[in-house]
Amino acid sequence: MKIGIDRISFYTSQYFLDLKVLAEARGVEPDKFYVGIGQEKMGIPPPDEDIVTLAANAASPLKEQGELDNVEALLFATESGIDQSKAAGLFVHALLGLPSRCRVVELKQACYSATAALRFAMGLVAMKPTSKVLIIASDVARYALGSPGESTQGCGAVAFTVSVDPRLLAIDPEAGFYAEDVMDFWRPNYLSEALVDGKYSTLVYIKALKAAWDFYVEESGRSLGDFKRFCYHIPFTRMAEKAHQKLDKGISPEALEEVLGESLLYSRNAGNCYSASLYVGLCSLLDNSVDDLSGHRIGLYSYGSGCVGEFFSGVVQPGYRSSRFDQAHQQLLAKRTELTFQQYEDIYHYGIPTDGGDHVFSQYRTGPFRFSGIQQHKRIYAPR
Ligand code: HMG
Repeated sequence: MKIGIDRISFYTSQYFLDLKVLAEARGVEPDKFYVGIGQEKMGIPPPDEDIVTLAANAASPLKEQGELDNVEALLFATESGIDQSKAAGLFVHALLGLPSRCRVVELKQACYSATAALRFAMGLVAMKPTSKVLIIASDVARYALGSPGESTQGCGAVAFTVSVDPRLLAIDPEAGFYAEDVMDFWRPNYLSEALVDGKYSTLVYIKALKAAWDFYVEESGRSLGDFKRFCYHIPFTRMAEKAHQKLDKGISPEALEEVLGESLLYSRNAGNCYSASLYVGLCSLLDNSVDDLSGHRIGLYSYGSGCVGEFFSGVVQPGYRSSRFDQAHQQLLAKRTELTFQQYEDIYHYGIPTDGGDHVFSQYRTGPFRFSGIQQHKRIYAPR
């Protein structure tokens, strides 16, 4: 029985900051960001967009096409949680009008949790092959202003369904994984931006990759030549390139571009989307691949600081091109509004009110759903 990703939809905020503008304000060469980090733009959520609206806006095209009718579980992966108790997925469950016969839960392990959700979903679908699971990964990446991490901010969400006979990617049963308790990146409950030991985090990302890959090879008997393309967790696109160069030592720049380039296009323009980033890379690959990938195996590496890494794989399904949302994704990225540096800093400082009072939020550009205010300590979401 084949189980895997049936449909996938990506959403990022309607606003972005060009990293050239950030470079000028911070007094660094634009090429440090464009070339050294490999990022051009970062998605910035306006005050009426949060992980719930990013998630609902990502899942909305699936709903419109009737893909969510027999969803029996909504697994919501995030590290930008909005409540210590209630799962963010319940707000999305209501906004999308999902069936009440549905399990809803939130998962956290930095950027890794959507991959854990995928494995759990495969188990649920194997037990009941007529059911589907909806996974949503949604995050806002935030670091201190002026810190080295600042240029690697971003935001976005992916929503994907997991079912038998998937139209996009059948996931292989084999996987290699690795866990270690490290402090490379974390966010204490009292902070709204992450703390990170940046250089160390890049080393741990690679260490976990090597260990996960070795385990995957033992489990599957496959080698690098078995893969047509690779998708990595993308905190910034150079990180994915550097990681692949560690696996495939001596790979030429042209070959690196061929196996990785198409998967990096969306992230270069949306920034780090934490738990969603690997799957933003998968969308980018499936949408933009010039070659028909039908029947080809792709390798995927998921990494969440703290840390857990997992290498796994899947086979792209024949006819996958007719099940994509490629045009919607490309239009979304093309039609965003550019922020000035002042507007970026104003939004950064704004934050969601924490005074316990009632608030009505101004309306900005969002997808079909927006975060309209707070009443009696409750977040209010509404159609736009
Ligand atoms: P930095 O230390 O300011 O940057 O920030 P740098 O000085 O190392 O420069 C970066 C690169 O730009 C270097 O290239 C420079 O040479 C180059 P490299 O030596 O690395 O190949 N450069 C230039 N290139 C062209 N023209 C120029 C120029 N100037 C310099 N003029 C750092 C880098 C990664 C530390 C920072 O961005 C950071 O802290 N980011 C956040 C942490 C992060 O993204 N870590 C990634 C691994 S951990 C992970 O992926 C998990 C995560 O997603 C969270 C989660 O799991 O939840 C973050």
